[in-house]
Amino acid sequence: METQLQRPPTTDTARRVEALNRNDKAFHVVLAQQFDRTAIEQLCQLADMIRTIGGARPGTQFLRTLLSHRRAMLYFIQPSTRTFLSFTAACQIVGMPYNSVRERSTSSEVKGESEDDTIRVLSQYFDLIIMRHPAEGFAEHVAGILNNMPRTIPVINGGSGRDQHPTQALLDIYTLIRSFGGTADSRVEHRYVRNPFSGKTIAFVGDLKRGRTVRSLAYLLCRYPGPRLIFVSPPELQIGDDILEYLARSGLEYEISHDLRAHIGECDAVYMTRLQDEHDVAGESKSIDYDKYNLTPDMVKHFKPDLAILHPLPRRKEIDQKLDSLPQAKYWAQVRNGMWMRAALIASIFNFDVAIRDHYHAYYTF
Ligand code: NCD
Repeated sequence: METQLQRPPTTDTARRVEALNRNDKAFHVVLAQQFDRTAIEQLCQLADMIRTIGGARPGTQFLRTLLSHRRAMLYFIQPSTRTFLSFTAACQIVGMPYNSVRERSTSSEVKGESEDDTIRVLSQYFDLIIMRHPAEGFAEHVAGILNNMPRTIPVINGGSGRDQHPTQALLDIYTLIRSFGGTADSRVEHRYVRNPFSGKTIAFVGDLKRGRTVRSLAYLLCRYPGPRLIFVSPPELQIGDDILEYLARSGLEYEISHDLRAHIGECDAVYMTRLQDEHDVAGESKSIDYDKYNLTPDMVKHFKPDLAILHPLPRRKEIDQKLDSLPQAKYWAQVRNGMWMRAALIASIFNFDVAIRDHYHAYYTF
C-alpha cells in the first residue's frame, strides 16, 4: 500500500479532532479531518459488505438485529431530502428505531428553552443524534455539550451551515473510488489497496465559496497523494483560502479557474454544485452568470469515456437532464452509495464493524 501523505495538521485541528474521537476512531462525526486514509477505506469496505449482505433477506435480517437496542434522533432544522431520508434508510438497514424533529416551531424552544437544553434533553431519550443545522460549528458545539453530560452519546453532523458536510464527503469519496475502478477486485480487502486518485484530475464546479460539500470532500482528498484539483467557479464564489492553505500544506496540486469549457476534456471526475443563494445577504448572486457553470449536451464530445460526473443534489440546471442516461453520470449511484455509507458509519460508531466483517467472511467469501 502506498504511504499516506505526511500532512501535519495544525495543532488546533488536532485538538478538535481529539475531542471528537475515541480510541483514535470517530465517535462524534463532525469534521472531515477526523478521517484518514485508513478510516476512509475501512468505511468503504464496510459499506461494500453491508450492501452485499443487505442484498437478500437473511442478510437483511442479520443487519436489522445489530442496533435494534438503540434509538436515533434526527434533529434536522434545515431543509433536507437526501441526507434526512438516507439516514432514515441507514437506520432501518441496521435496525435502529429513530424519531425526528424537523421544525423548531414544534419544539419547546418556542417556549424559551435554549437549544443547548433541547440537545441535553434529546441525549436522555436517544443513543445517537444526527443533526442538520444552519449555524456553522453548531454540531461541534453539540459534541462539546454531549461530552459534558453524564450520559455521553455521539452526534453526527448532517450539514452545518456553509462549513462542513462530512458524511456527504464520505459518500462522495466512496463514489469516486468505485468510479475509478476500486471495485474491480471481488475480494473486498483488495479493492482499496491501490491509490485510486493517483494521476486523476478532479474539477469542482459552481458555488465553491458557500457549498459545504466541496469543502469537506477537499479535506478527504488531502489524504491521498496524486489527485490534481481544479476549482471552477465564478470569481465571486471562489473556494475559501482556508481550504487552499490546507491543500498546499498537504502537497496537493490545485488550480483556480473560471472557465469550465477550458478544462472539461482533461477531467477524470467533475463535481457539480448548485448556487447556494439561500446564503445571499441582499440578492448579490442574482447578477452572476451561473449558466457558464452548467454541463450541457454540447460538452459531451469532450468528455473522457471514463469521466465520473457527481453532484450532491439538489440540482437546478447544473447538469442538463439529457446527460442523465450517460455512463458518465454517477449522481444517482452516488445517492444510493450514501445510504450504504451512512449505515456503515452508524455501525462503526457503535463498534459493530467487527460483527459485520465476521458475518461477511462467514457467509459471503468463498
Ligand atoms: C447538499 C447540502 O445540503 O449541502 N445537499 C445534500 O446534502 N445532498 C448540497 C446542496 O444543498 O446544494
